[in-house]
Amino acid sequence: MSKVLIVYYSRKGENYVNGSIQDLPKGNTEVVAEKIAGLTGGDLFQVETVQPYPADY
Ligand SMILES: Cc1cc2nc3c(=O)[nH]c(=O)nc-3n(C[C@H](O)[C@H](O)[C@H](O)COP(=O)(O)O)c2cc1C
Repeated sequence: MSKVLIVYYSRKGENYVNGSIQDLPKGNTEVVAEKIAGLTGGDLFQVETVQPYPADY
């Protein structure tokens, strides 16, 4: 088991990308968290909300 734990919250769905709204399958923080996990071999833990945020912008 790794000693590195990456805890993150990230919201997928509509977001601005280069000036237009797109439907993202992953939030920006999740993408970065996965890169950090790849570099460190750490474990990922995604924080979830009790009530989901709306997917629309
Ligand atoms: C409704 C909404 C409003 C946002 N407003 C801002 C803002 O005012 N300033 C900013 O820098 N980013 C803004 N963002 C972009 C988020 O800060 C950006 O997506 C950030 O990476 C959040 O992490 P996530 O994508 O992992 O959820 C907004 C995103 C959404 C969905």
